[in-house]
Amino acid sequence: MTLVQSMHFDQIKTLKKERNAIILAHNYQVPEVQDIADFIGDSLALSREAARTDADIIVFCGVHFMAETASILCPEKKVLIPDLEAGCSLASTINSYELKKWKEEHPNAVVVSYVNTSAEVKALSDYCCTSSNAVKVVNSIPSGTEILFLPDMFLGSYVGKVTGRKNMYVWPGECHVHAGITAADINNIIQKYNNAEFMIHPECGCTSSTLYSLASGDISKKAHILSTEGMMQYAKKSDSSEFVVATETGIMYRMKKENPDKVFIPVKENAVCKYMKKITIEKVVDSLVLDQYEVKVPKHISDRARTAIERMLLIS
Ligand code: 13P
Ligand code: SF4
Repeated sequence: MTLVQSMHFDQIKTLKKERNAIILAHNYQVPEVQDIADFIGDSLALSREAARTDADIIVFCGVHFMAETASILCPEKKVLIPDLEAGCSLASTINSYELKKWKEEHPNAVVVSYVNTSAEVKALSDYCCTSSNAVKVVNSIPSGTEILFLPDMFLGSYVGKVTGRKNMYVWPGECHVHAGITAADINNIIQKYNNAEFMIHPECGCTSSTLYSLASGDISKKAHILSTEGMMQYAKKSDSSEFVVATETGIMYRMKKENPDKVFIPVKENAVCKYMKKITIEKVVDSLVLDQYEVKVPKHISDRARTAIERMLLIS
């Protein structure tokens, strides 16, 4: 750790105590931010932690929709995001106007929204889900009920295949980072590391073809489709010593730190989410000193969005 970093760490520790604040960080955050966080996890784990904390202030080191989710779950707390430009290309693929129109075309359908959506979109949804519980959420809905699943088409097609659901319509959205991890990338790396286990995030562009290859026996059963936290848990419990990882590369830091005897190979070195990297340790300090930037969802939206999120939390 550099001298400047350790000064920031000390300053943040003092500020956290003085302000009764907690720092939540997503698995894709830069190493220094992960190191200062009180809790690191995937979208589901972070929502749960936000719901249970007794801190007065939550500094959310992740992207905007995640901070909104924390604010929806704890409207009485102050939720801060250190940089307002930490958005999400996937969440931006659908807005409330587009969802209203889609619902009009399917008046009897139930809406399942991935957590990577704006609060307005969640407010128009029946259920929320994350990558770690999407299958469970869809399976909890009676089989005769139509589902509108949004916004990720790769996750949607994965959930459709796993659940065998035929009456599920999927919004054609994608995350620019994960869509860029293709079947060709996976096939190339499989040749090189055929003893490794493969961990693939369901948002990846290669998810459908990997499922197909798994089912047809073209690739071994060593491929696992997992959320970021699912990957962390799998890496820990598996006896393998080598893992190929198909997701944003920020997760590699925590994987290596918590499993120093194992080897982790990213499928794509440049699978980097520029939005996640907007958060820096300096901005975390500013956030705590200057109370910036507060994320507050208007009550009429948050009350409706909360129902969809709480339904998810009950199922998972
Ligand atoms: P996880 O919930 O698996 O952490 O995914 C969130 C995300 O934004 C992936 O790009
Ligand atoms: Fe959004 Fe993709 Fe970044 Fe995840 S990796 S926060 S889905 S843009």
